[in-house]
Amino acid sequence: MVKIFNPATVSNDGLTELSPDPTSAGRIVLYHASEGKPLATPWQVALTRSRMLSECDLPEGFVLDCACGSGIQLAAHMAILQRPGIGIELDEQRAQASAFNLKTIALHRNESEAEYMEFSRIISGDGRDGEAASSAIAEHFQREEYPAIALLHLDPARPRNSRTHGLEEMAPRLDEVFAGWSPFLEDGPNGPALLLDLSPRLSNQQQIDVERLVDLVWPKIARTWVWTSRGRGRVDRLALWLGSAAIKGVARRFVRIPPNIAEEAHIVSGGSPLSTDLSPVAKRQPPRRGERISILDAALVESGLAEEWLQTVTKSEKISWGVAGGRRPQIHHDHPLRLESPADRHLVQATGRVVALVRMKLELSTVDQLVETLLEHDISKLTLRTNLDPDLQPKLQGALDRQLSRRHGRRDAFLVQQSGDEMLLICVAE
Ligand SMILES: C[S@@+](CC[C@H](N)C(=O)[O-])C[C@H]1O[C@@H](n2cnc3c(N)ncnc32)[C@H](O)[C@@H]1O
Repeated sequence: MVKIFNPATVSNDGLTELSPDPTSAGRIVLYHASEGKPLATPWQVALTRSRMLSECDLPEGFVLDCACGSGIQLAAHMAILQRPGIGIELDEQRAQASAFNLKTIALHRNESEAEYMEFSRIISGDGRDGEAASSAIAEHFQREEYPAIALLHLDPARPRNSRTHGLEEMAPRLDEVFAGWSPFLEDGPNGPALLLDLSPRLSNQQQIDVERLVDLVWPKIARTWVWTSRGRGRVDRLALWLGSAAIKGVARRFVRIPPNIAEEAHIVSGGSPLSTDLSPVAKRQPPRRGERISILDAALVESGLAEEWLQTVTKSEKISWGVAGGRRPQIHHDHPLRLESPADRHLVQATGRVVALVRMKLELSTVDQLVETLLEHDISKLTLRTNLDPDLQPKLQGALDRQLSRRHGRRDAFLVQQSGDEMLLICVAE
């Protein structure tokens, strides 16, 4: 049995978990249910994604989100594409919250009377069962034919408090959704359109396994992997865009959501499929005074697109990787990066020129000695950008800050090390 909520008439009776979306500058206040807030897609992320989707040539019909949670992503797709939406949610209260949120967002956008709202519905039921949902909608609208599905969006729930998880732990499971819905998806110029919003923690092997599940149902369908980051060097979202939702000629895309809501997202695109390993390889080279060192956005490096982006901010320069992964991927190069645009600057944690190579162990007892070297180079502030014991790091940084604040240096600097090398590299920021 399924229950259908109409956003136009749904009430908020019994709903309690109300909170403003922080990425909408607090302007949109949304309901969640059954502790669904941590699962919800932030409004800004949802909008950025829907705008990218609006560049695709989708078939006619409804946007379907078959595990719609609080309905935020669904609402963004509907508003940007101006298409009616069908959301399915197993948890009945969350389905009601989702319907109410669609109404709230439409009101916020002055679109409550828009045509797409008239036909949008939320079903409380099993999102894996395409037959049951399609016949329920057909019956609800008193139509013979099942609704045409233009896009299938899927953001499955994952086990909480777990750093890693298997594909079979996703709820609903990808293979079950594919089997349940493949007969009901419309074809666009590149077949059906699907957007799978997956865990950013999927290993490379799991990503390949997802492709295998897709190929079992839609062999060789076009695909674009999209890594989304809101900064802090973390991948926030990893999604697979398929078929008519895939971006032509783009196998991988990195999307940096800007800190300011009003700015456009920064996009880096590349053509190598997942099967090509694009991970950079660290090569230890003797560091040189005068060379440049940059620490890149870790999420960009994880997407495999760092090399492509580097070509746009360097003049065919030879780049070598001092640290190839982790939180502070580090490159060495001869000339400054050309970071004229703020968007490019967001992709670099720090960049500068090596002014001193210091062979010493970094500990509280050596801070005085390090400060003397820093003053010789007119340095007023040194940020430690190397892997240190988490207890020691703030103590060392505090001791350096205190000592330098009493002296008269003028330049900002940072300190890095290369993988497996104790040498401290002092770089003046550029
Ligand atoms: C990660 S949340 C989706 C969040 C959503 N994208 C948003 O913007 O709010 C996943 C949802 O899938 C629901 N779910 C799990 N199994 C399901 C199933 N078989 N059918 C429908 N929904 C299901 C969970 O209750 C959960 O609310």
